Amino acid sequence: MKIKLNFWIDVAILCIFLVAMEPGASGVFIHEWLTTSAVAILIVHFVLHWEWFMTLTARFFVKLWHSSRLNYLLSIALFLGFATLMVSGFAISEKVLPTLGVELAGRGAWKRIHDLSANLTLLIIALHIGLRWEWVWAAFKKIFVAPFVKERKADSPVLIEEDGL
Ligand code: HEM
Repeated sequence: MKIKLNFWIDVAILCIFLVAMEPGASGVFIHEWLTTSAVAILIVHFVLHWEWFMTLTARFFVKLWHSSRLNYLLSIALFLGFATLMVSGFAISEKVLPTLGVELAGRGAWKRIHDLSANLTLLIIALHIGLRWEWVWAAFKKIFVAPFVKERKADSPVLIEEDGL
């Protein structure tokens, strides 16, 4: 159950992120409201991984398997990437903040920070998925392949009977 939940939350985050990477295609209105509402999904993702994060934090300075350590550092980089993206996004907001009655003075360097953090975060996401590829593949098989295998197993007595004919 937790694997399925994690899998679909990750798929949702990835899809929203990819749409957000093209504000020209979606329009700024959808870009801002979609990413703002995605904060809730990101929080659920962080909460579901909190135990893993705290366990690795406690073990970080003792000998750790190399890829766990890299995973851990990448997760922190990913968190910082999303935080920078959201803060800079709100700093240049044209739709969400004005709707909430907040008008900021000027964009300053925030647009460049937003663009740069979007591209860096995309890179970190690719590495993050690459390092967890085994988990992604296992979850994919569990969700999409296993139910059909079970169904075929349930059908198998019929198959055996047919074979016996
Ligand atoms: C997952 C989160 C987000 C991602 C991946 C993302 C990504 C991007 C990218 C790639 C651009 C184009 C930058 C450029 O070409 O210069 C952009 C522009 C922009 N973003 Fe975001 N963004 C995110 C969140 C937000 C949020 C939360 C807001 C505000 C509430 C926001 C507001 C804007 C605005 C106003 C622009 C400029 C659009 C324009 O003038 O064409 N973004 N974003």
